[in-house]
Amino acid sequence: MFKLPRGLPDQETELTMRKLTALLLAIILTLSMPTHDLQAAHELEVRDIVAGASLYRENCASCHGANLEGQPNWRTPNQEGVLPAPPHDETGHTWHHDNQLLFDYTKMGGQALFASRGMDLKSGMPGFSVSLSDDEI
Ligand code: HEC
Repeated sequence: MFKLPRGLPDQETELTMRKLTALLLAIILTLSMPTHDLQAAHELEVRDIVAGASLYRENCASCHGANLEGQPNWRTPNQEGVLPAPPHDETGHTWHHDNQLLFDYTKMGGQALFASRGMDLKSGMPGFSVSLSDDEI
């Protein structure tokens, strides 16, 4: 990889290689730090919140409520055993799921997600894999 001056004693060659490796590592680490820090701060920080809010109004608010309040009595299933839409604010339990699960839930819909995990459950949550792109979700 590096052209080293010919005729250097082995020890000196090794020392130069070590210095170069250390230098390279330092450069790589410095370059990778800022993005890493950003993700550590919040993995959703780079997402477009304004677009998300209007997508929510168009696609989700009819069930989950214009103010994320969900449907009344969301813990009680209806006659068909289907649960009403839960709130997405702090009174619900959406916040305790990780982002991957919430993404899958929205993309696949409740029933398909449960089925993929071997559970046969009815869900009133439709999938959005056709109407929304992964980025929009
Ligand atoms: C037709 C009504 C309806 C629409 C529209 C809808 N949902 Fe839902 N959603 C539900 C219901 C009902 C549940 C309850 C889950 C269940 O019984 O499987 C739910 C559950 C969820 C959950 C799981 C929440 C939890 O706390 O476990 C997420 C996440 C979710 N919806 C996101 C969305 C998003 C994002 C949109 C818009 C892109 C959306 N939903 C649109 C009815 C809807």
